[in-house]
Amino acid sequence: MKIGIKYCGGCNPRYNRKSIADRLERDFPEAEIFVAKETKIADWFVIVCGCANGCALHDDLIGTCGKFVITSYKDYPPMAEKIKEYYRNKEVKRIMWKETYKSKLMSAEDAVKLIKSGDRVIVGHAVGEPSYLLDAMVANAAAYENVEIVHMVAMGKAEYCKPEYEKNFRHNGLFLGGATRKAVEEGRADFTPVYFSKIPELVESYNPEICLFQVTPPDEDGYCSLGVSVDYTIKAAKCAKISIAQVNKYMPYTYGNSKVHVDEITAFVEHDEPIIVLPEPPIGDVEREIGRYCAELIKDGDCLQLGIGAIPDAVLSFLHDKKDLGIHSEMFSTGVVQLAKEGVINNAKKTLHPGKFIANFLMGTQDLYDFVDHNPDVEMYPAEYVNDPYVIGQNDNLVSINSCVQVDLMGQVVSTSIGPKQISGVGGQVDFVRGAAISKGGRSILAMPSTVKGKVSKIVPVIDEGAAVTTSRYDVQYIVTEYGIAYLKGQTLRERARRLIKIAHPDFRAELIEYFENKFRCKYED
Ligand code: COA
Repeated sequence: MKIGIKYCGGCNPRYNRKSIADRLERDFPEAEIFVAKETKIADWFVIVCGCANGCALHDDLIGTCGKFVITSYKDYPPMAEKIKEYYRNKEVKRIMWKETYKSKLMSAEDAVKLIKSGDRVIVGHAVGEPSYLLDAMVANAAAYENVEIVHMVAMGKAEYCKPEYEKNFRHNGLFLGGATRKAVEEGRADFTPVYFSKIPELVESYNPEICLFQVTPPDEDGYCSLGVSVDYTIKAAKCAKISIAQVNKYMPYTYGNSKVHVDEITAFVEHDEPIIVLPEPPIGDVEREIGRYCAELIKDGDCLQLGIGAIPDAVLSFLHDKKDLGIHSEMFSTGVVQLAKEGVINNAKKTLHPGKFIANFLMGTQDLYDFVDHNPDVEMYPAEYVNDPYVIGQNDNLVSINSCVQVDLMGQVVSTSIGPKQISGVGGQVDFVRGAAISKGGRSILAMPSTVKGKVSKIVPVIDEGAAVTTSRYDVQYIVTEYGIAYLKGQTLRERARRLIKIAHPDFRAELIEYFENKFRCKYED
């Protein structure tokens, strides 16, 4: 048991700071008790205030079992009793969970009958989605009318988006992908813009009836790990009125704040099947050049956030000679595993969670899933923690690398729409751009090929009509294409435009220069 103590500024000179720590040491001799400095996560946090003002700040501290603010000695005994009660209950749970688990086992067919027309169903994220339960739900479609399916990145078939189920299901996408875009475009589904860091809060505010998700079999204490998908799924599993878990032995068991107890879940459906894998994408010449430029901006000891796809993988392929890199990322993929095995990524220089890979979800090949399974160096936390810009910013030298589809000459970045057509979602892009801006020595990079298949420039005078700005010109720092790096932060509009034209595809520079010269009434000089 770890108990962190935080003291207030001490506006009452008479209070004895040490006495609470002494009492905790006496009452919980087996606990590791420390004063919160770099470490922001403990089982318990005790915020000790010297007077009734209770003015100590503690929003950044996470007590995974609980947090108490005490403003007088009278607050101590009830607090100590709550901690003791928690462990007494835990002991009872440890003895009882097998019976509880057995009593909650059911078939997928029966489990999906718990869903009723008009319900809101939150589905576990990305490759953590419970495919077997979704298949059963879709097979039972005739029993439902207007069930709302809330999901972020849908990596499975998303059959509930098919036109034939229009009356049965309506998808509310928090991010769109290949399986869901068409339904939104055709008006049969909806898209909700939301920062990844705020999805858990949104999900809770939805007051959902159902959560469908996937877990490992319970451990010896009756806890199931959400494995590769903690993100918003853990919040949904805990706040839904009915939570239905697919128990799958192939789900990697991960540590961090990634577990729910058998007692907290309504129903279990056992079904083993390999986790959805995402093959490593082919890396072309353009991506390789982009990766090379991004790697120029990465120094030994940096802490990285990378998305998924050919560009992040190309960046990683140029990092084999670096040292002491770290990961604090909403997700990471297979490319990271090789660098971890080589010792290039060892998290040694991280200022928050030193020694640990931190993420909220993962997707990649089986190599990735084998790497993270029961790996104490990998810790998974919910998105409201990992993606909180203030948490991100506690990592010094945080470098975030994300992609986008269009950048105008002011540095406005479009990442989620092609004109008015919604193609994806913000995910963690803005969370990390802002976190990198807070981080001491931090840098944010938005990388993209300079053209769409050589035909259309992605660097444009003005963004397409109907497109939505994802990263604003106030937040943008580096833009990278296969033609180089443009640093935009703090630059005038004229200088931004000049730097962006330099990294545009040569075939499109003439028209960009013409726009530049008209707008800024001066000659463009390279
Ligand atoms: N004009 C017209 N079409 C464009 C375009 C442009 N400027 N830019 C891209 N497209 C088209 C591509 O041709 C492609 O179409 P296709 O699927 O028919 O081939 C499609 O849009 C996707 O573009 P692509 O370059 O393949 O994108 P990607 O797969 O590398 O993903 C984003 C890029 C922007 C969609 C993705 O990075 C994203 O959603 N970013 C925001 C989220 C984020 O950054 N999260 C944090 C990390 S996980």
